[in-house]
Amino acid sequence: MFAKRTNWNLTPNRLSQALAAHRAAGKPLLDLTVSNPTECGFEYDRSAILNALGNPAALSYEPNPRGLESARRAVAGYYAGRNEDVSAEDIFLTTSTSEAYSYVFRTLCDPGDEVLIPSPSYPLFDFLADIQDVSLVRYPLDYFTRDREAVNDHGWQIDFHALEQAITPRTRGVIVVHPNNPTGHFAKQAEIAKLNSICSAHQIAIIADEVFLDFALEENRPASFAANRGAPTFTLSGLSKISGLPQMKAAWLIAGGPPQWKSEAVARLEVIADTYLSVNAPVQLAIPSFLEQRHAFQEQVISRVRRNLAELDRQLAAQKTSSRLIVEGGWCAVLRVPATRSDEDLAIELLTTQGVSVHPGHFYEFPADGYLVASLITPERTFSEGIGRLLSFF
Ligand SMILES: Cc1ncc(COP(=O)(O)O)c(C=O)c1O
Repeated sequence: MFAKRTNWNLTPNRLSQALAAHRAAGKPLLDLTVSNPTECGFEYDRSAILNALGNPAALSYEPNPRGLESARRAVAGYYAGRNEDVSAEDIFLTTSTSEAYSYVFRTLCDPGDEVLIPSPSYPLFDFLADIQDVSLVRYPLDYFTRDREAVNDHGWQIDFHALEQAITPRTRGVIVVHPNNPTGHFAKQAEIAKLNSICSAHQIAIIADEVFLDFALEENRPASFAANRGAPTFTLSGLSKISGLPQMKAAWLIAGGPPQWKSEAVARLEVIADTYLSVNAPVQLAIPSFLEQRHAFQEQVISRVRRNLAELDRQLAAQKTSSRLIVEGGWCAVLRVPATRSDEDLAIELLTTQGVSVHPGHFYEFPADGYLVASLITPERTFSEGIGRLLSFF
């Protein structure tokens, strides 16, 4: 009696089972997988956040498919602060980036149509796509190690040959996670130009997920896709990461690209958004204030990420078996460790023998064993001790 799209295998995987058993037995755990910013010891301006939710204007209902203008203006202001020209009229508020994806998939895809996603990447897309009857097709990201001859050519890059090969008549969009989770790399200007030319030639959309955009470790700030004009573009972001407020359920979607395409996309999105009107009034009214919170939050996150990375490098320098990949931004470090067993077996052994929880690379579809992912927003003492125990395993 159920739809086939809900025929998911819901049995917990071996690592989740081992983790549940570890916790149930009350054993100590150094958790290097934390991603919930509200549980990482960051300081929030509690009264500013709570006061923002008490705006008396929330007592009246002013439905607007795009969301309240005051909130959309604040979001446009966030982009203006990055020198990106975005009109409040092209912004749609949603309860989460995940919901924004569903609007995009519903706007672009008929059942069975395809969307390209990067690999490795965050394992969020499979369920989102299943629920919207979209087929995901992976395009690889390749990692190039540092080479003295080509200093600027190292790190993660989109495999454009594979990406183009993956395009079929059913392809409707290419997801770009900017910066990607967990590889932490940004799309470079030359890559954005190439994506624009491929997507406009094939009449498919760029779907840019920028939830980690502000967490760049290098000085020069990467450009957003929000003001991209070179191809049909949807840009998604929200306050879960930008201001560290995932519980507030406030995100957005921006339509951009060639003007005629954009006005058609906006008209269609308006119907979808009007059908749900999903973001509640108190949160919409609080968005300008929540966006203000980003400055203090991002400062804390970036300094923790830097300190954890420095500690990781200090410990890596003292051994020879493991290394880390380049991190340009985001909240994760990818470790390269000896591939003596599957990443899942390794993560289970690290848990049971060292009391350390890390994500195995296969969770993010790394193409081979020997990759572990650690969260750089882990509180520093836990991070340092956890990395120490992890490295002592090899
Ligand atoms: C790359 C990426 N996109 C989207 C999301 C989900 O964001 P939201 O809480 O706005 O749905 C996450 C969550 O970790 C993420 O890593």
